[in-house]
Amino acid sequence: MCGIVGYVGDESAKEIIISGLKSLEYRGYDSAGIALNKDGKLLLRKESGVIGNLEKRIKKNDFDGNIGIGHTRWATHGAPIRENAHPHLSCDGRIAIVHNGIIENYMELKSWLIKNHNVEFKSETDSEVIAQLICVYYNGDLVDAVRKAVERMRGAYAIGAISADDEDRIVAVRKDAPLIAGIGKGCNYLASDIPALLKYTRDIYLIENGEIVVVSRGDIKIFDEDMTRVKREKMHVTWDAAAAEKGGYEHFMKKEIYEQPEAVNKTLEGRINAKGEVKLDGIKLTKKELDSISRIYIVACGTAYHAGMQGKELIENFARIPTETDLASEFRYRDPIIDENTLFICVSQSGETSDTIEAMREAKRRGARILSICNVVGSSITRESDDVLYTWAGPEIAVASTKAYTTQLVCFFLLALYMGKTRNTLPRKEYDRIVDELKKLPAKMSDVLGADDHVARLASKFAVREQIFYIGRGSDVGTAYEASLKLKEISYINSFAIAAGELKHGTIALINRGTLFVVLATQDRLYEKMLSNIEEIKARHAYVVGVAKKGNNRIRRISDDTIMIPECSDEVAPILAVVPMQLFAYHIAKLRKRDIDKPRNLAKSVTVE
Ligand code: G6P
Repeated sequence: MCGIVGYVGDESAKEIIISGLKSLEYRGYDSAGIALNKDGKLLLRKESGVIGNLEKRIKKNDFDGNIGIGHTRWATHGAPIRENAHPHLSCDGRIAIVHNGIIENYMELKSWLIKNHNVEFKSETDSEVIAQLICVYYNGDLVDAVRKAVERMRGAYAIGAISADDEDRIVAVRKDAPLIAGIGKGCNYLASDIPALLKYTRDIYLIENGEIVVVSRGDIKIFDEDMTRVKREKMHVTWDAAAAEKGGYEHFMKKEIYEQPEAVNKTLEGRINAKGEVKLDGIKLTKKELDSISRIYIVACGTAYHAGMQGKELIENFARIPTETDLASEFRYRDPIIDENTLFICVSQSGETSDTIEAMREAKRRGARILSICNVVGSSITRESDDVLYTWAGPEIAVASTKAYTTQLVCFFLLALYMGKTRNTLPRKEYDRIVDELKKLPAKMSDVLGADDHVARLASKFAVREQIFYIGRGSDVGTAYEASLKLKEISYINSFAIAAGELKHGTIALINRGTLFVVLATQDRLYEKMLSNIEEIKARHAYVVGVAKKGNNRIRRISDDTIMIPECSDEVAPILAVVPMQLFAYHIAKLRKRDIDKPRNLAKSVTVE
């Protein structure tokens, strides 16, 4: 996720902006840049990589001013290279903007700007459109131009803009992306996040959706969509820097669990159009190519592997192509059957996991086409792939993966729908039903987060356990694996996940009086079978926490405790059911006083074998 910092006052803007951007490092970034207004001219510096690169470049140059905007970029549209870094300038060099978010209709706006205003674009980003659009509408009044530009945009954004004509105004606007203004003495600030300003001020205004804010040296004015002045109470921030980075949450993991409705929304955004058609930027597979694919391997590690387990089911169900899911560490040393009709899908949050990269290279050597599902633009895996489908989860800081997992599942849905539709293997009615379910997901995810207190109470009952079993059938098997991994990773409890049908082939021998079983029973077609499993383990005096969809009440009668998820189709249930499982692991780990964001012995990105 990108970061924005702005300053107007009597100090050196570049120092303050760089320091602010550095405080946003935790958001992750791949490039950074600053635009200043000096004596009626806009000066611009940007660099890819760490902020130190930008700092070095600035030191070498005569580059300063008392007003400016800066940005750290986490690439979505366009590679993480200097050209795509923000700020972006308008063609005439008189307007500079920084932008967080996604402009969904940027292609349409870009064509319009090229056709009607002969605009020449310098970057591949959606954001550059904003600078050009503001410039087209600019008539000496920056606020008015920003308003008019924003009226034409669809998507999510926090935008900061400066003009060469005005050395005392930053104009900013937001919709579904965070934005704050900071109150200084004889100066004022703009930022996407509180940590960027903590060194300078603790008095801030929170900017609401749709509002425009004009930040000048002497004051900060906030307006609503109709340009009516808004009175806002200032907020005094009492958090320390570490707490502020976590947005007030105690741990990054909790924050990231709560970011899932937004992350899922972002991953879907712009990929399902108004007519319900799935459009996947970055996937170049044609109908002919798809029809020639005879086998698919999905290969990954850890949590990403669990997403792959669900992906196999979706692709086989919607696109009817035989699909195998494999662990990267195993696949790379097997002798897999691969030819030019094989599609190899690698799934990786970081795009840097050594085993996954090597498995991918092996598949490539043997002639497979490589498609990756990844969260980091420009990472090794994406650079070596033929097709890339990004999870737009934003940076994940906690070692235990949460929002990357749910967005990987969403990507598998999009991919399987696209394949099924293109290959004519998925009836239109079914296709429409799934699209409809996906659209409802962000709201249902928010709903499921409402179970947090209930899950916390359950966790307090079981935090002292030394062993927990997870079972399920169908798509619930993948969820059971992921739930068990989450618990192991952060609580260090010995947990075990198994397909419920396999229980009687061995694991059932481990049941003692009170042995804890979390039973996932979200699949309607397998619900009865799961109730039988519950009876079976209850007969051996196990303790059962049942997880099912609201309305399925029989499970309540035979389980000791239950966690209910919103009503939904069987297909999307894994995306919802995993959320209380993440919370369950989180609360248990917290009660056991574990280092939740950085569990022992684990690394976020495993770049060695
Ligand atoms: C490590 C992390 C896991 C992650 C796995 C794969 O083990 O601790 O959370 O699932 O790597 O990482 P990737 O970046 O390839 O998804």
